Amino acid sequence: MAVHLLRFPVQVVFGEEAIREIRSFARSFGKHALLVTGDGPTASLPAVESIREMLAEEGIAVSLFSEVKSDPDVETVEKGVATAREVGCDFVIGFGGGSPMDAAKVIAVRLNNEGDIASWEGVGRVPGRAKPLICIPTTSGTGSEVTWVAVISGGKRGQKMSIVSHHLYPVLAIVDPRLSYTMPPELTAATGMDALTHAVESHVARKSWEPTRALSLKAAGLVFSYLERACQDDSDAEARRGMSLASMMAGMAFTTSGLGLAHALSHALGAHFKVPHGVANAVLLPHVMRFNLASAPEAYRELAAAMGMDTAGLSAPQAAEKAVEAVEGLLAVLPLPRTLRELGIPPSSVESLAAEAFLNTRMRSSNPRDTVLEDLIGVLREAMG
Ligand SMILES: [Fe+2]
Repeated sequence: MAVHLLRFPVQVVFGEEAIREIRSFARSFGKHALLVTGDGPTASLPAVESIREMLAEEGIAVSLFSEVKSDPDVETVEKGVATAREVGCDFVIGFGGGSPMDAAKVIAVRLNNEGDIASWEGVGRVPGRAKPLICIPTTSGTGSEVTWVAVISGGKRGQKMSIVSHHLYPVLAIVDPRLSYTMPPELTAATGMDALTHAVESHVARKSWEPTRALSLKAAGLVFSYLERACQDDSDAEARRGMSLASMMAGMAFTTSGLGLAHALSHALGAHFKVPHGVANAVLLPHVMRFNLASAPEAYRELAAAMGMDTAGLSAPQAAEKAVEAVEGLLAVLPLPRTLRELGIPPSSVESLAAEAFLNTRMRSSNPRDTVLEDLIGVLREAMG
């Protein structure tokens, strides 16, 4: 019998007004917080001021570090660390999408550990514990608030580095769906497709098992129930709640199961062509699914059913194909590009992108189908359109 692992060490507070719970939890973390946000509109959301006010009532000072750009790099993280040290922060709050939360994770760990951040790339290379960390997502896709991964740019080849360590788990995730209401439709769609890609890739991953599959199937179903609605009406409370849940549950699934080829390829596209992570996943997902179908037909059959497809009377391979049809049907109604060509990716770059993705042995090894370099080239050519 196989031995399985389940990682679920993050305390989660979920629901409308969940943000208010920060007071009772933060009391035990210290007297000064570094609040890490993006350099865009997130920093001026009213919730930032209310966090400051609530913590002030607890005698906790907040210093704002709002210089995190999309796909944060090592230099930004070091700047955040310097700011935190200057003012004497005891704990860190990551507030925003995946970029500020990932930056906050590495700032929290770097505050307690000396060394070159680039040397922490990979699994289990972070030397020691982090400062206490709270993550508060304002998008619905990354799931970073419940995972042990941070993606930071600035590796030796200019690649996106996945830093993977149990020291990166936040102590607390506060998931308040109201914070996602201000997302425009395109960002809602892109981040939502990231959540769906987490659900699909973790479900078919080699390390998935019953608890992670329950999470990934539920997450996939929630995306199919609510993503289109959330894109059409930004204040549809039920749809926003459903997408916040989907993002969190898919994150819980993949932090144990791992991901696959869509993520290996989308990291290469993000590093070299600045394609937003969710957009790259949306374009790649159906092509990666089709490539993988024969290696995990039963898992794809389960996904097809969770996505609302009628699979009665079909063989496992036929039913599995329905999962791809479902994803293509969803993409057809979302405000997203459908091909790499539309994203301006030159066909001449296919080989180098595939070579970069091929170096991601962690994601290739969790993907259900073994791959050689030519397979990745083939998937990218299909996605080129
Ligand atoms: Fe992702």
